[in-house]
Amino acid sequence: MAAARMLEKGANWIARRLQKRVPYNAANTFLEGPFAPLQTEHTKTELKVHGTIPPELNGMLARIGPNPLHVENPAAHHWFLGDGMVHGLRLQGGRALWYRNRFIGTDSVNKALGKPRAPGPRRGVADVVNTNIIGHGGRLWALVEAGSYPVELDASLNTVRHGLFDSTLDNSYTAHPHTDPDTGEMHAICYDGLQHNRVNYLVVDKQSRVTKKIDIAVKHGPMMHDCAMTQKYMVILDLPVTFSVKAALTGAPLPYCWNPRHQARVGLLSRQGDSGDVRWFTIDPCYVFHSCNAFDLEDGSVVVDVVVYERMFDHSSQGPENQKVAFERWTLPAGGNAVQRKVLSTERQEFPRFDERLTGKPYRHAYVVGIDDIDKPVANVLLHHDLQTGETSRHSYGTDQLTGEVVFVPRHAAAAENDGWLLSYVHDLNGRNSRVVILDAANVAGPAVAEIKLPVRVPLGFHGNWIADSSAAG
Ligand SMILES: [Fe+2]
Repeated sequence: MAAARMLEKGANWIARRLQKRVPYNAANTFLEGPFAPLQTEHTKTELKVHGTIPPELNGMLARIGPNPLHVENPAAHHWFLGDGMVHGLRLQGGRALWYRNRFIGTDSVNKALGKPRAPGPRRGVADVVNTNIIGHGGRLWALVEAGSYPVELDASLNTVRHGLFDSTLDNSYTAHPHTDPDTGEMHAICYDGLQHNRVNYLVVDKQSRVTKKIDIAVKHGPMMHDCAMTQKYMVILDLPVTFSVKAALTGAPLPYCWNPRHQARVGLLSRQGDSGDVRWFTIDPCYVFHSCNAFDLEDGSVVVDVVVYERMFDHSSQGPENQKVAFERWTLPAGGNAVQRKVLSTERQEFPRFDERLTGKPYRHAYVVGIDDIDKPVANVLLHHDLQTGETSRHSYGTDQLTGEVVFVPRHAAAAENDGWLLSYVHDLNGRNSRVVILDAANVAGPAVAEIKLPVRVPLGFHGNWIADSSAAG
């Protein structure tokens, strides 16, 4: 989330420059400039296209993020906690069929919009969902960590119901499950904002049933935003950002803080086992929001690639902080109990992605959003790391253009790794409408294959995915 901090600085800079066009309120940067929420839902079918949309792209580029409909106290608002809004661009046969944005149907949003309450259970009063949108088992789900149930959406992005998939289990979920490409099962490590001495390993099968739940003992209520998965193990990131009673009592909207008393460690949990027995590896204090991929080595060691922050949540109560960050390869050695760290790239970057047909398996290509210049973050880039050669190629989206998370889509099911496209929503810091940009993954430095102009400014947000017609109703 250093990227977010860079964007925050960019928002300030551009807001000053464009005071007449971009309302600026010093109360909360995450409500202004490129973060400023939309208040209206749109459906647009006539979309301008530059270039040629690959006809093989049949599906929807979905992306979600916080988009608060109403904020009572802007100064106390935390970026991570805003009402969710999902954006979708539907492509078929070389054409852009439509763009839609829809609020996630929480009780407060539906009430404010005059819509009926969405069916399904709630976990207490928690129903905000804003962090990821995935296709699973032919259905579309919006996800959040640590509290609210997932929300099922229809193919037009309208809320269908709340619930833990097709399970009646009362359990929190995560925004970052990992799907086994061979079985279609989703594997996840889930923490709960109200349970501070354990996290869960949950498996959801292709029929959307929870087929495994294992408790793992932890201390202090660590924030586990993501995990990783190899073919044998779940990789558990137990790092020193933990629940803070003090922050909760003082009214912090997201009561998680850097905790130097919490032992940083990385765990391996057997995917086949039935107990919470974890083999732990020590590591110097640091924080990880997102893993890239992970895989097993022949000698029993495990490799996981991660974006690593020196510290996190040290002082801000509104969003992630500007911390030193690197892309690293961690090895959990078969014959040791300490994580071995290797820096792959020291450029500032976030949102690592890869060809997810290789989830849990050796891979070569990583796609990560980078920030060019720490002092002038008005242009960012896509970094394409070739993990075999160690080379990085890059694509600049242009001055004042900020790409969101970039998603790899293979050319076809049997295509080689990196044979496909890289799709993302690109935000214009000058306040003009956003666009979706399609790059050729084999030629990242080259010009875009196609650009689709959207009818709105899509605020900077969190995660998205390509929902292929073969994986969810189109
Ligand atoms: Fe995330």
